[in-house]
Amino acid sequence: MPEKALNIADIRQDYRLSALDETATGADPIAFFEKWFAEASTAQINDVNAMTLATAESNGMPHARTVLLKGVDGADFIFYTNYDSSKGREISENPKVALVFYWKELERQVRIEGTVEKVTAAESDAYFISRPEGSRIGAWASPQSQPITDREILDTNYAKYTEQFAVTGIPRPPHWGGYRVTPNLIEFWQGRSSRMHDRILLKKNDTGTWDKSRLAP
Ligand SMILES: Cc1cc2nc3c(=O)[nH]c(=O)nc-3n(C[C@H](O)[C@H](O)[C@H](O)COP(=O)(O)O)c2cc1C
Repeated sequence: MPEKALNIADIRQDYRLSALDETATGADPIAFFEKWFAEASTAQINDVNAMTLATAESNGMPHARTVLLKGVDGADFIFYTNYDSSKGREISENPKVALVFYWKELERQVRIEGTVEKVTAAESDAYFISRPEGSRIGAWASPQSQPITDREILDTNYAKYTEQFAVTGIPRPPHWGGYRVTPNLIEFWQGRSSRMHDRILLKKNDTGTWDKSRLAP
C-alpha cells in the first residue's frame, strides 16, 4: 500500500498541560526563568539549554542559529562561540540580539531580547579549561563559518593541533570565548487550549525594574 503523503498543514497540537498568570511570574523575570529552567531540567528535556540566537547585520539582515546557554550570571545569559564566526561579526556590527528557548515537552517558550558583549578573557579561560580535550582542540581546528574545501581539512587541522599542544596543554584560542546577553525584554509563553495561550511580557524600564503586561496570543 502506498504511504499516505505527509500533509504538514494537518499537523496540530492542542496545549493543555499548564497555565500562566501575571502573579506567577513575580517581579524578577530572571528568577522566573531560572524556575522554568529548573523545571525543564527536571523534566529531562533533551538539550534543555539549547536556544536560538538571532543576530542582525547593520543593514538589518537577520540570521539565526542554535547555541547552548552556559550559565545565567546575575541577569545575563552566557554562551560561547568563535568570535570570528558569522555571528561574531554580526555582533561586532550590531550588539542587539534575541534568544528563544522552546521546551516543547512543557509547552513553553521563552523569548529574550537585549544587548550583548564579550565576557572577560578570564571568564572565557575558566570555561575553556572546563571543556573536554576534544572540544578544546576543535576550537583551534575549525575556522567556524568559513567555507572549507572538504571534510579532510578539519581532520588534518585536528591532528595538527593535537600534536602541537601535546606537551604544552591546549590554550584558549584568542578568537574563541563567551558573550553575555543583558536582557531588556523577556516573554514567557505557556501553551493553552484552542490557541488561547498565555503570554506574560516583562520589559525593563528606565529605573531598572520590570514592567509587566499580558499579550494576546
Ligand atoms: C544543539 C546545538 C547546539 C549548538 N551550540 C553551539 C554553541 O554553543 N556555540 C556555537 O558556536 N555553535 C553552536 N552550535 C552550532 C551553531 O548552530 C552554528 O552552526 C555555528 O555556531 C555557526 O554559526 P554562524 O555561522 O551563524 O556563526 C550548536 C548547534 C546545535 C544544533
